This record gives sequence, C-alpha cells and structure tokens, in this order.
Amino acid sequence: MGTILVTGAAGFIGSHSCERLLAEGHRVLGIDNFRTGRAENLATLRAHERFEFSEGDITDATFFDRTVAASKPDAIIHLAALVSVPQSLSEPETNFRLNVLGTQRIIDASAKNGVRRVVFASSAAVYGENPELPLSERSETRPISPYGGAKLASEALLLGHAALGFIVRCQRYFNVYGPRQDPRSPYSGVISIFCDKLRAGQAPTVFGDGEQTRDFISVHDVARANAIAATAPDLANGVVNICTGRPTSLNHLAAILRRHVANAPAMKHADSRAGDIRHSLGSPERARLELGFSPRVPLEDGLAELIRS
Ligand code: UD1
Repeated sequence: MGTILVTGAAGFIGSHSCERLLAEGHRVLGIDNFRTGRAENLATLRAHERFEFSEGDITDATFFDRTVAASKPDAIIHLAALVSVPQSLSEPETNFRLNVLGTQRIIDASAKNGVRRVVFASSAAVYGENPELPLSERSETRPISPYGGAKLASEALLLGHAALGFIVRCQRYFNVYGPRQDPRSPYSGVISIFCDKLRAGQAPTVFGDGEQTRDFISVHDVARANAIAATAPDLANGVVNICTGRPTSLNHLAAILRRHVANAPAMKHADSRAGDIRHSLGSPERARLELGFSPRVPLEDGLAELIRS
C-alpha cells in the first residue's frame, strides 16, 4: 500500500478521492487552503488513522515543497484548482496562478522529491467548441475559456516534464455529480442545483428546450478512476476521458429527479444560457483500455442517493 498526496482534499472530488484511497488501504495526506474546499467535507476523513491533513496553498512553493519532502508520497493526485469557468473569465490572473502556476509547483516538488506519479484533474473543457460526438482523446482540443485553456496548458506542462522521472496521468472529467457538490452558485453543476431546489420545494429552471445532453458521471466513479490512476502498476503517461459514454438530456434528468420527490413542483423554463454547448459526450474506451476503468454507478442510482443525502 502506498502514500498518496491529494491536493484539494476538502473539495467535492478531493474528499471522495481521499475516502476511496483510504478504503483501498492507502495512506493519504490531504492538502487544502479552504478557498473553495470546506472543512465539513473532511469530517469522516479526519477520524481515519491513515489520513493526515495539512492546511496550505499549493502555489506557496516553500509550504508545498516542505510538505512533499516530509511525506514522501508515491503519487500526487492534483485536484486543487479554480473550478469556476465564469471566474476564470473575470479573473484570468487568478486562473493562471491557481491552474497553471499551481501545476508547475506540483511538477517542481515532484521532481525534487522523487514522486513517481502525478494524476491531474483535467476537464472536458479542453474540447471546448468541438462538436464531435463522442469526443475521444484524439479529438481536437479547442478551449473556449481561460479555464479550459489552463487545463490544457497544465496537461502539456506535466507531460513535457515527465522525462524528469514521473508518470503523468491526465483525467478529463466530464459532468461530475454527487454528494457535497456545492449548489449555491448559478454556475454550479446542474444536478446539484436541481436537487437543491427540488428538496426545498422550489421549481428548478431549465435553460432552453431541455433537449441538450450531457455525459453525467458519479463522483464515486471519478474517485475510483483517480485511485486507479494513482496506484495501478505499470501505467505509462497518458490522457483519458473520465465519462460514461451515455448521453442524458436535461428533460430526462429532471423527470428522474422529480420521481424521487413528493409533490415536486413543475420545472420552469428560461432562455438558453449564452455560450452553452448543445451536446457533450465522451468516449470511455481509452480509460477502459489503459486503466481498466468503467463507470459502475447508473445515473438513476446516483441521483436517488443524492436526493436522499
Ligand atoms: C461543464 C462544467 C464546466 C466545463 C464544461 C465543459 C460543471 C458545473 N461545469 O459545464 O466547468 O467547462 O462542462 O465541458 O460541471 N442548466 C439548466 N439550469 C440550471 C443550470 C444549468 O438548465 O439551473 C443547463 C445548462 O444550461 C447546460 C446544462 O444544464 O445546458 C449543464 O450545465 P452545467 O451543469 O453548468 O454544466 P456544463 O455547461 O456542461
């Protein structure tokens, strides 16, 4: 069993990834600066004897290097990031600092301290305006936001430094949903917003005709994919989509969710959101071949769990 360092451990995907690694018997060191991560996401983790936590900022080279040197992790799962696309547009320098410079800090500390593998949280945002369906890792990358650009730049930076002695695994997450996703911003994931509203007895709003589709993947599957990428033996450098390959329209999503809520209010409708992509769908083939990863949580089950949580 290894030692895995997880940046962004108090975040949505980070806290689930830590839990998965602990369940598989690994030692986990979590790092978070609580910029968007939340202390309550660490509640069950903190009780675990193989979990340690260090509060700090990955862009602080002294802090991060000291932490990596002290814990000597076998692998780093790098999830700490600015996660809001609109914020990457309004604050491009913050986007650059957290999402590009932050990656360089991971690279420097990994090279210096003999870390053997880095798993990077990339995004379907790297494909941007590419209308190809389904998107494969060979599809052209055409980011349309500073966020997507920074994710793509980070992939290239990491792969460009892999010769320093570590294996790089880039994971392009599609639309991730599940417990602990923050519903409070209008730019939060649609599933967390719909659940939050329905539970409060309020009508969620569908932007456009609701026939747009997304490839929704459970955070439990994403956490498992991260654990595989960090710990499976004999992996080479690579980039994979983390997705299901199944399209779900918003209307279908709303219908499933409403079935789980007594006296669910009818959906409201509003104009399409500016810049919205009509369909987003990934091919999960390469993740299956390279990682042996296939998603296991059917959308209906994942949504039922979420609405109960
Ligand atoms: C997602 C990512 C984004 C990434 C993009 C690229 C999330 C939260 N965002 O955006 O970071 O750049 O993929 O692939 O995962 N909608 C409603 N009502 C609402 C909220 C949303 O109808 O209250 C609609 C949106 O208009 C959109 C769909 O739901 O058509 C999905 O929206 P959202 O969850 O924000 O994700 P993406 O736009 O796919």
